[in-house]
Amino acid sequence: MSSNADLQQRRQNAVPRGVSNSLVVYADRAASAELWDVEGRRFIDFASGISVLNTGHLHPKVKAALAGQLERFTHTCFQVTPYESYIALAEQLNAAAPGSTPKKTIFLSTGAEAVENAIKIARFHTRRSALIAFSGGFHGRTLACISLTGKVQPYKAGFGPMLPEIYHLPYPIPYHDVSVEDSLAALEQLFKADLDPARVAAIIIEPVLGEGGFYTAPAELLRKLRQLCDQHGIVLIVDEIQSGFARTGRMFAVEYSGIEPDLMVVAKSIAGGVPLSAVIGKAAIMDAPGPGALGGTFAGSPLACAAGLAVLDVIRDERLTERALHMGHFMTSRLKGLQARFPCIGDVRGPGAMVAMELVKNSRADQPHPELTSALVQAAGRAGLIILACGIYSNVIRFLAPLTISDAVLKEGFNLLEKALAEVAS
Ligand SMILES: Cc1ncc(COP(=O)(O)O)c(C=O)c1O
Repeated sequence: MSSNADLQQRRQNAVPRGVSNSLVVYADRAASAELWDVEGRRFIDFASGISVLNTGHLHPKVKAALAGQLERFTHTCFQVTPYESYIALAEQLNAAAPGSTPKKTIFLSTGAEAVENAIKIARFHTRRSALIAFSGGFHGRTLACISLTGKVQPYKAGFGPMLPEIYHLPYPIPYHDVSVEDSLAALEQLFKADLDPARVAAIIIEPVLGEGGFYTAPAELLRKLRQLCDQHGIVLIVDEIQSGFARTGRMFAVEYSGIEPDLMVVAKSIAGGVPLSAVIGKAAIMDAPGPGALGGTFAGSPLACAAGLAVLDVIRDERLTERALHMGHFMTSRLKGLQARFPCIGDVRGPGAMVAMELVKNSRADQPHPELTSALVQAAGRAGLIILACGIYSNVIRFLAPLTISDAVLKEGFNLLEKALAEVAS
């Protein structure tokens, strides 16, 4: 049997440090919201492999769909000999996307690839080049995506030059005194001083900042962006890669605002752990690039599409949007209870089950506590709970338990969190 320590040694010799690990816990097997490491130790998983497992580890329906597909074929390349599951999944996502405008969907493999394709489609459609994104936003690790991402360390520094003609606006964060008015004033100033709106291909925004710390874009901002995009012929791209697929209590977080995005990028929980991503968008925009301009060898693989269809069934059959609201209620009230006991918890927030707490010094929003945050991740790991840090100041703990978790395991996880907090906060 391999030990975590042995594997860590081998990992350090064989794998570059640029891809980091939050815990020295090597996975052996997992089911729903539980994971066992190579030493046989059980963990409760509040990370879901960074928001990939809304339907849990190895959901029986996803497993059966994958097994069924394995009996038939694993790869043909959709561009060579296509298959029905790709079309069926596209049809279902077109129907599930917000708004009544006819939609089309293209599949890719990773979130970053979906963002890249959305940008290509928006540029082709508008014949414009400039792009607007938000500081604190995260859109992936390819060169175009790090250019859009609004955080220099560790994502952009050293990898330049970035893509030209990308502009960042402040994301509204009331806890840090940034309002919707501040964001909109920055946009107005940008259009006045630097950038002709007639040159802007797209504005891209996460309806809830993921890596940035689970701050929610107020509906008011999204509606105003919708209006400005309509006014200037700009494509509005909503990045639902982390917030999609029932996590926030709606299929997609943008539904809370009532707007219809032009393009939406999705990935992560779309296929229960099999790599898959998509751009879902208004058909007239999606059809702009000509044949051969879009695609990829593995994009929308048969295994991924089979899993994706099963995931949509599970979300519907197990009413996971309602479950997310129920879980969110429990998680938020439990965290608020902890906040009363531990003053280092400066803020508790998040829609549905996309919940986070922000750790600060002296109860002050302007004094982030990243050291305590990383100590808590390690202490929780020792206690048997997998949690993830995030945030512009690396001082946020995000909770992304599978939506299939039982109430008992969810509660047990929060008991472990409380124990870990007591250890590091004292
Ligand atoms: C909002 C958002 N966009 C894009 C990405 C990039 O996705 P991937 O890591 O699959 O390339 C992520 C990943 O964390 C994300 O959270």
